[in-house]
Amino acid sequence: MIVLTGIKPTGRPHLGNYVGAIAPALELQKPADHRCTYFIADYHALVSQPNPELMARHSMDVAACWLACGLDPNQSGLYRQSDIPEIFELQWILTCFTPKGMMNRSHAYKAQIQKIAPNPSTDNTTDNHADNNITMGLFNYPILMAADILIAHANWVPVGSDQQQHVEITRDLALKFHHHYQHNIFTIPEIKLAKHTRPLVGLDGRKMSKSYQNHIPLFLSEAELKKLIAKIPTDSSSPSDPKPTSGTLYELYTAFATPEQINELNEQYQQGIGWGELKQQLTAHLSHYFAAATARYHQINSKPDDIADILAHGAAQMRPSAQELLEQVKSIIGLKL
Ligand code: TRP
Repeated sequence: MIVLTGIKPTGRPHLGNYVGAIAPALELQKPADHRCTYFIADYHALVSQPNPELMARHSMDVAACWLACGLDPNQSGLYRQSDIPEIFELQWILTCFTPKGMMNRSHAYKAQIQKIAPNPSTDNTTDNHADNNITMGLFNYPILMAADILIAHANWVPVGSDQQQHVEITRDLALKFHHHYQHNIFTIPEIKLAKHTRPLVGLDGRKMSKSYQNHIPLFLSEAELKKLIAKIPTDSSSPSDPKPTSGTLYELYTAFATPEQINELNEQYQQGIGWGELKQQLTAHLSHYFAAATARYHQINSKPDDIADILAHGAAQMRPSAQELLEQVKSIIGLKL
């Protein structure tokens, strides 16, 4: 089973990313017959991140995060998308089989249009305000993602449900190519949705998201964690009042707790525990839960040359099979004389 997922280098992941994406994707490394690849989708990030310093820093940081969380580079692949030029050749080939209407229907593109021009004029002229403010990078995003997936012969793509349409587009494009050339060269991928589909709650009770600024980044010190957790709003019940087992503190705690720990917590809620004490307890709990990964993160990050070596090694391992697939595709198209 070939498992592949791409990670956009858009900054340090937070606890919501950890439970929703990182942990379930790394879990797939365990079965012996799985070959997992996790790559840094830097050219996808270019769509929204044209700042060179941040691009470089985030690529390294995201690689360090995944390594700290348990990505084993001896067992699994880790490379930067931009180091595999074959992906971009394949992308052009797939582009020539992509109906423009299919891209018009892409959720990410439609959402952006909606943001720029909620009430578009009906005439679809070249002076369309929304389209003039959307790059072809955003428009073609799903085709590049299809190339990422198909070049690796991926069977499974562990991603969130927001990426479902992209995986469906990938399947469609592969099948169109197969049908046209009567040659089944690509592996048709399947989406692998994380079991923990309920998004983690953020500090303000909404879904944890960097765009709401209600997130808890991974690998904070205990003091930094304490400061963020202090912000969680609580009601005015007094310490001895029994408390309902719900709410932001409860959800954050239980997302990282064993069933036994949840039972203990339920008892404390039942007996009445002060909010202040609970916050202290949650801070200590999260700090302990991530202690080993945090130590690894700081150690890995202190050696950027080692990260660069791991990424270069990952690319070198990936390229021969990417080249082979691309050669086969070119020969099917008639580009080999
Ligand atoms: N679009 C994905 C995201 O935003 C990242 C990504 C790029 C990806 N290429 C991929 C995920 C290929 C899985 C497979 O999260």
